[in-house]
Amino acid sequence: MEETLVEPEDKTEGAPERKEDVRILAFLCNWCSYAGADLAGVSRLQYPPNVVDIRVMCTGTISPYFVLKALQEGIDGVLIAGCHIGDCHYDKGNYATAKRFRVIKDLMVSMGMDPRRIRLEWVSAAEGAKFQDVITSFTEQVRAAGKSPFGKAGNRPVARAEGAEPLKIGVGEWKPGPTEEAVTKSVRSALESGDASAAVVLTVRDGVIVPRIVKKADDPAIDELYAGEVRYPMTSFALMVLPLVPGKLALPVRECDRRMIVELKKHNQIDPGRLVLLGIPCSQDVADACGCDHPATPEDIAVMSAMAVAAEPCAPDGALAKVAGERLDFWMDSFSRCLRCMGCRNVCPMCYCSECALDNPDIVGPDSKPPDIPIFHLIRAIDMADRCIDCGMCEEICPADIPLRQLYRQARQVVKDAFGYEPGINPDETSPVKMLGEPTNLGGMESGSRAS
Ligand code: FES
Repeated sequence: MEETLVEPEDKTEGAPERKEDVRILAFLCNWCSYAGADLAGVSRLQYPPNVVDIRVMCTGTISPYFVLKALQEGIDGVLIAGCHIGDCHYDKGNYATAKRFRVIKDLMVSMGMDPRRIRLEWVSAAEGAKFQDVITSFTEQVRAAGKSPFGKAGNRPVARAEGAEPLKIGVGEWKPGPTEEAVTKSVRSALESGDASAAVVLTVRDGVIVPRIVKKADDPAIDELYAGEVRYPMTSFALMVLPLVPGKLALPVRECDRRMIVELKKHNQIDPGRLVLLGIPCSQDVADACGCDHPATPEDIAVMSAMAVAAEPCAPDGALAKVAGERLDFWMDSFSRCLRCMGCRNVCPMCYCSECALDNPDIVGPDSKPPDIPIFHLIRAIDMADRCIDCGMCEEICPADIPLRQLYRQARQVVKDAFGYEPGINPDETSPVKMLGEPTNLGGMESGSRAS
């Protein structure tokens, strides 16, 4: 019979209590780092036994969701190790890894999470000794960070928003003014001239905004058009109706809608050639109230070229000014109010995926309210980092008052700092994070770690 080696438990009275050591998950690329680990093994190089490895064909296949999921499940540290830059067996898979990793790491810092919990390294098949060093030093690093504060028991739900106010979409007292007059004229003119075969107009019924599709210039709904201070997710509506409308669709939009359309075009989700944009200028009061950096004239809005003036960088606000531990507490407390209503996702035109990770029970625990935190919100933050155009509709719609706009602003800032890229500004500029194989800027991760 095979003998099983089990370390005997020390039951001596007064024996020191054994503390559970840190647990590390390592994603190793098949062609280099896994072979490097193998070499370390056959060379009998010693390293701490805290690591469980997962062999993947290329680090480029590792979704940021996997890293977040591991941390969410209570893993204390996650290592990604792959081929050196220039040596990827799939040419440029590790370029994508380097860029994604920079975003994950900096977002963790921004949220107040301990960045010592993740590491990216390039280890070749010939570098058994380097693999030994990496595992040894990373284990020490994770031990210094301590046990993960997450995991099933660490969700810390503290402040459920049971009595949260319902969504406010009412427009209150309202009378048509010069803006309505101008937009009405533009809609009629687009339909009369044949520039558009249909138009979307917002009307007000019982104090609530209701979108209507009109096809004739004499449709009386055009006279009821609303272009006041309350915003409506017009671009999300346009995405739904565009396949149903032959020809071009006239769309009264604000500057934030235009930025959405710019971004959606880059992601091949909309053909701006099928839209006739009719600009609704936001007043300075509206722009100030929703923290918009880009108030623009109707003429500016109705074009798809790059904006003349780029946005100012987001100013650090409340959460960013706190120290790391307080930042994390701030976000965990905010996330714990989530009702899982999905309003933030559903109102956002940039959330266009037909299958959403937030609906995937293998990634996010199904049905729990609040949802598993922070993974539930970090998944969206990662996805929004190079997509969000900062319209703030998600925060406006959230019945639990979660400062979502601040979250996505921080995520945008991470991409801006690393790659100098800001979504929604230039229609000809593609996100460097999504681009496979662009070697010019890896966000400082060329050597697998970043000096600053
Ligand atoms: Fe090793 Fe791509 S094959 S990182």
